[in-house]
Amino acid sequence: MAKKKLSREEAKKRIEELRELINYHNYRYYVLNDPVISDAEYDELMRELMELEQQFPEFITPNSPTQRVGAPPREEFGTVEHRVPMLSLQDARNEDELREFDRRVKRALGLPMDAKIEYACEPKFDGLSCEITYINGEFTQASTRGDGIRGEDVTPNARTIKTIPLKLILKKGETPPPRVDIRGEVIMKKSDFEKLNEELLKKGEKVFANPRNAAAGSLRQLDPNVTASRKLDFISWGIGYYEGIEFKTHWEVLEKIGEWGFKTAQPRKLAKGIDEVIEYYREMEEKRDNLEYELDGIVVKVNDLSLWEKLGTTTRSPRYAIAGKFKPRQRTTRIKDVVFQVGRTGIVTPVAILEPVEVGGVIVSRATLHNFDEVKRLGVMIGDKVLVQRAGDVIPDIVKVIKEERTGNEKPIVPPTHCPVCGAELVREGAYLKCINISCPARLKGALRHFASRRAMDIEGLGEKVADQLVEKGLVKDVADIYYLTKEDLLKLEGFADKSAENLLNAIEKSKDTTLARFIYALGIPNVGEYTAKLLADHFGTLENLMKASKLDLLSIPGIGPETAESVVKFFQEPRNVEVIQKMLKAGVKPKGKPKEEVKTPFTGKRVVFTGALSSMSRDEAKELVEKFGGIPTNSVSRNTDLVVVGENPGSKYQRALQLGVKIINEEEFLKMVEEAKKAIGEG
Ligand code: IVH
Repeated sequence: MAKKKLSREEAKKRIEELRELINYHNYRYYVLNDPVISDAEYDELMRELMELEQQFPEFITPNSPTQRVGAPPREEFGTVEHRVPMLSLQDARNEDELREFDRRVKRALGLPMDAKIEYACEPKFDGLSCEITYINGEFTQASTRGDGIRGEDVTPNARTIKTIPLKLILKKGETPPPRVDIRGEVIMKKSDFEKLNEELLKKGEKVFANPRNAAAGSLRQLDPNVTASRKLDFISWGIGYYEGIEFKTHWEVLEKIGEWGFKTAQPRKLAKGIDEVIEYYREMEEKRDNLEYELDGIVVKVNDLSLWEKLGTTTRSPRYAIAGKFKPRQRTTRIKDVVFQVGRTGIVTPVAILEPVEVGGVIVSRATLHNFDEVKRLGVMIGDKVLVQRAGDVIPDIVKVIKEERTGNEKPIVPPTHCPVCGAELVREGAYLKCINISCPARLKGALRHFASRRAMDIEGLGEKVADQLVEKGLVKDVADIYYLTKEDLLKLEGFADKSAENLLNAIEKSKDTTLARFIYALGIPNVGEYTAKLLADHFGTLENLMKASKLDLLSIPGIGPETAESVVKFFQEPRNVEVIQKMLKAGVKPKGKPKEEVKTPFTGKRVVFTGALSSMSRDEAKELVEKFGGIPTNSVSRNTDLVVVGENPGSKYQRALQLGVKIINEEEFLKMVEEAKKAIGEG
């Protein structure tokens, strides 16, 4: 339906309505992770707002949701003075030091040592602290902590972060405080950090050492468009200056901030006494790797705000709060040697062999150097003293070389010219050296391990050791060979007896019955992870369809980019790969796709008749479109006709449609339906 033109006044009202709606749905989506409308409906609201703002540019304000995209770059950052200084926290390195803090608090308050203070406990996020000022509920200014007194003005950058509300969400009848400064941490999820680094590596740009640096580097950009292109998050942990509102406890502050539309520090705990604090400290250190954000400890704050005043602050840090730091995940050690590891895609990775050192509770003796560009960037040599870092489950890596400690006996790392496993000549691909011999045992071992892994074909008992032996003993020359193994073959492997051989054969047999998504993932196509594999399986429904897909077919799938499309096509163009797949299918592997979900468009199942000339396309082109989107183009109007599209100088069909009461639309409405249909099939 064509929208009627709004008057200036009506447009202003609708614009305000739309902004409120969009802000609310943003909050549902980004903060609560619980959207209540579809993406398409959200896009529709956004489009309506953009159109109205285009028609009435005088109503555009910097806080319109359409302005989140990033403002023009600046020459330099301005400075912002914090009304209340942004202090730092004192550290407690272990449980004893946390208990010492509790005793200090009680002593200062004149309380007995067995008193139980109420503490608010929160995660300590490893990011960049930031203050956001709201005047009358409107996002007005954002600044970094800086030296605590003055920070950098990052207003246009912060505006691009979706979890920073542009307007505080207010309850019915609630008036916004005249001013409130919300404080929190700008952070990057571990997964987004890894993705970003992968992209930077591909582009041959410098990677970030950790999510914290990535968050800081992304926020402190003179060009806010760069910030907008990075996935940042804001988690609030408190408040600075405020007026026109009262709070009794820190907990209350966090709850209010949450109601206003922010993500707040979670999981948090209100602890009665230091023992409960310690419990939380232990729990969080244990959970640390399972959280989507990087933490470097917990923060413990006296909950009662009236006690904050009594306890006061030192020049650097408050006496009412402390950071309980986790075991450090960076340590220094020495590089004994560098070896070159060949992965399942043939990429040769330099790996540093370290003097073993304990990092965050785990003994580390190897660290990845990623690639030879990274070796160059770090300027690392064998024998160097280095700073090693372990972040979560990620393989430890080297952050920097401590060049001051060089003795002169260090040896350079020379990139190999030939594959250390099969001897084939290596090829350079961007920052990487690659072995392109597909029957290279190193590649095969890796491919086999990946193929059998839990999230791929899930073959129990086919782990690293077995995969390596199968290749080394020549029992497996390509992945498909596992489906032709006999009991006698398996008995040749170390540690295998009758029973274990049978178990493995059963597991291999069982894996033949699998889903298409798992099978695609198991193939180990470059750039095709689990998620992409599922997208492909859902879209193509059968392996056959996927194998036939052109680059264009692949690009039509939302979420598949040119690089992935290219590598999928290349993979299936390689005759050896197709041969191996055929060999598996012959052995009885049956990857099953779900029946393809019917995609519905506004044309699905509709009989459509055209009359009169269209201005934007020929009749045949229009009919083709109807057909493409699941409709049935027909030539004459009857009671069965669902829709008549009327162009210029329509003929008798128009009259007949009027007589029969068939729905009639004009060209503009038809084009709108086409747009909607394109969106429905993922083309829009
Ligand atoms: S409260 C007086 N709570 O840690 C300072 N800080 O070392 C009050 N941080 O600058 C800070 N998570 O950037 C607080 N849940 C949390 C935090 C947190 C991370 C950062 C913050 C602060 C630094 C202090």
